[in-house]
Amino acid sequence: MDEGLLEKTANELVAHGKGILAADESNGTMSNRLEAVGVEPSSETRRAYRSNIFATSDYESAISGVILFDETIRQTMDDGTSIPDYLASRGIHPGIKVDTGAKELAHHSGEKITEGLDGLRERCMEYFAMGARFAKWRAVIRIGDGIPSDSNISTNAHALARYAAICQEQGLVPIIEPEVLMDGDHDSQTCYDVTARILDATFAECNVQGVHIPGTLLKPNMVLPGKDCPDQGSREQAAQMTVDCLTTHVPHNLPGIVFLSGGQSDEDATAHLNLMNGMDVEHPWQLSYSYGRALLAHALQTWASGSNEESQNAFAHRAEMNSLARSGDWSVDLEA
Ligand code: 13P
Repeated sequence: MDEGLLEKTANELVAHGKGILAADESNGTMSNRLEAVGVEPSSETRRAYRSNIFATSDYESAISGVILFDETIRQTMDDGTSIPDYLASRGIHPGIKVDTGAKELAHHSGEKITEGLDGLRERCMEYFAMGARFAKWRAVIRIGDGIPSDSNISTNAHALARYAAICQEQGLVPIIEPEVLMDGDHDSQTCYDVTARILDATFAECNVQGVHIPGTLLKPNMVLPGKDCPDQGSREQAAQMTVDCLTTHVPHNLPGIVFLSGGQSDEDATAHLNLMNGMDVEHPWQLSYSYGRALLAHALQTWASGSNEESQNAFAHRAEMNSLARSGDWSVDLEA
């Protein structure tokens, strides 16, 4: 394991003012999103939409890395340059989603285990040779009646740690993503407790499996009430509970935490991050973003309505807003 390379990449991904663009929707998810805005999904429409985003001017100061899907890392920009080479030429690290999706967990109705460990070493070797320098694996934890079960927590924690170890062996910084979903009517304290459980289990497994924490990034949910909870609380409460939970349950030698947006509005995702970074305390790690929808939802709509340029402007705006939130310098009037 090249600890120096892993630490360098991890620190560059969470450098001052920068975060990650998650553009790694699977073909199924991306096709659904295209259909929802009236575009016929195909390999070519997925390429055309994403390559237009990647070609946006001047977003390098806000985006340090882009997570790609297997189809996209093999595709090209309009001029024929390979997408990972193009990103690297702009100083942006190409990343790759390496899990193969969340499948039903046997004997546990409604719960999922993320698969993709078989053949992972060989896939990581190939992706590294194509230019990827980091990877992502997403575990999905649902809150509900009697769930998550201990089995759901332990199997996903084990898989996340095995994935992380294999990636590090092959020179890729693993982003460990245990996502506690916002679906449901649970309150914030329940989200806090479940988030703490999956974080504890995951870092315990990482310890057992020798994962090098200074060469790792964590991509967690924020601590939020379920979408259907009658008490949605305040942004300040969400920011404080998230920081409290992470400070207690995440190793302090981790270089950075890159949140997912998880279905929050664009502005909530930015405001929460801004509040956390504006607190009058020094956090042990960088607090940054690895947003998908909160960076691209508006950009997709405008692209579908026919304007490449407006789509790039929508993405550039969200990237800039989140870059400001890295230092607590965002404010709502900048949204106008
Ligand atoms: P969202 O920000 O849309 O939740 O996506 C981030 C991601 O990569 C989920 O795996």
